[in-house]
Amino acid sequence: MNQITGKAKLAGVIGWPVAHSRSPLIHNFWLEHYKIDGVYIPLPVKDENFEILIRGMMAAGFRGCNVTIPHKERAFQICDVLDPNAQHICSVNTLMFRDDGSIYGTSTDGDGFIASLEAQNVNLEKGSALILGAGGAARSVVAALVQRNVSVFIANRTYERAVELAKAYDLAQAIKWHEWPKHLENITLLVNATSLGMEGANSCDFDLTHASKDMVVSDIVYVPRETPLLKAARQRGLKTVEGLGMLLHQARFGFSQWFGVDPVVDQEITELLANSLKS
Ligand code: ATR
Repeated sequence: MNQITGKAKLAGVIGWPVAHSRSPLIHNFWLEHYKIDGVYIPLPVKDENFEILIRGMMAAGFRGCNVTIPHKERAFQICDVLDPNAQHICSVNTLMFRDDGSIYGTSTDGDGFIASLEAQNVNLEKGSALILGAGGAARSVVAALVQRNVSVFIANRTYERAVELAKAYDLAQAIKWHEWPKHLENITLLVNATSLGMEGANSCDFDLTHASKDMVVSDIVYVPRETPLLKAARQRGLKTVEGLGMLLHQARFGFSQWFGVDPVVDQEITELLANSLKS
């Protein structure tokens, strides 16, 4: 156990509930690994106490925090400064409490997603992506891809939500849900950003017949680790990128800001996280 002194750097994750969050596991592993005098704690807080907690943490010298469901939009509203990622998707997951008393907010999901692809040597240049879903997770993924000049098709069960999301970007286009399998021919990256395939969710079938052999398939769902989509892709010999990578890489930015080290996402933390999700 690393030593925690009276000067320990403080951060945490706010949510309701928060017991399911793996952020404390990830951050405290890195704190220990890098021998940093710091702690990262779970903070279960209901809506009505969200701002009281934020002000209290600032008064107590916390460096910042992660914010998870259901507080991401509320957190967005209380920020004094927002980075472009947060502005695009109107939501934040990472806050920095600055010395001048202001709050800086960002959303690290999109960059975390891209970093998880890059870690697997996926080349996004001149590619085009097909995103399944138009909820919060899809918004982050679409914004990050478009920012890197990737053309994006969005297919969502509720077509209107796909249209609404696509409207925000010149490089994005909505397609009908039942049509996405036929669209795969010229796609270089397929991303599941829906809850389909999540443990306990309805069973699902993904038709990859039209996929080109170079298409990369990724899933933001990470329980189970090999989702039905990733399994279907592996069986066709396609390269896959699992959702655990995004979960780990999105945590890096907050950690580096609060604790001063950009942590490495390696096999050890990936396996630790995977094992914790089995129980
Ligand atoms: P998140 O913020 O995690 O993305 P969300 O906003 O509830 O969560 O979005 C969930 C996504 O999964 C949506 O795109 C949803 O489609 P709808 O917009 O039509 O609701 C999609 N989804 C959930 N269950 C689905 C199912 N059985 N089939 C297809 N899409 C599904």
